[in-house]
Amino acid sequence: MIRLNLNGVVREVDAEPETPLLWVIREQAGLTGTKYGCGIAQCGACTVHIDGAAVRSCSMPVSSVTADQKIVTIEGLSADRSHPVQKAWGELDVPQCGFCQPGMIMASAALLAQNPRPSEAEIRSEITNICRCGTYTRVLAGIKLAAERGEAGRG
Ligand code: FES
Ligand code: FES
Repeated sequence: MIRLNLNGVVREVDAEPETPLLWVIREQAGLTGTKYGCGIAQCGACTVHIDGAAVRSCSMPVSSVTADQKIVTIEGLSADRSHPVQKAWGELDVPQCGFCQPGMIMASAALLAQNPRPSEAEIRSEITNICRCGTYTRVLAGIKLAAERGEAGRG
């Protein structure tokens, strides 16, 4: 059994040590907001936070996360989708099909928590998630909107 702190709840999961964290999140914990895209740490669909940093959970063995590290998924980012990034996303209708968007939002929230006023160049270099629908322009606008409001420095 492996102990994980997932969205503030400590759980014990029965998984092989090398099982990707993504599969534990989706299958053992039933939190399916975090998506599987490529499985090789390239697309960012599987992005979650570990102690506030964005990580690609498809390529992280579950055994590499300790019980005292805080894992946050899109379901745990905020109550009632009230995180500034989520609010900006809604106002600007950022998603198209939506598949990549939990990862986009988690990556964006982590960026703004660490750097509340990123330059456009910083946003472009830090947010490397892939969107097959090509929402990049709206993602950029959404991050800028959340940053302009100066309220996104929270986890
Ligand atoms: S599914 Fe993890 S980066 Fe693509
Ligand atoms: S909104 Fe469709 S893949 Fe990004």
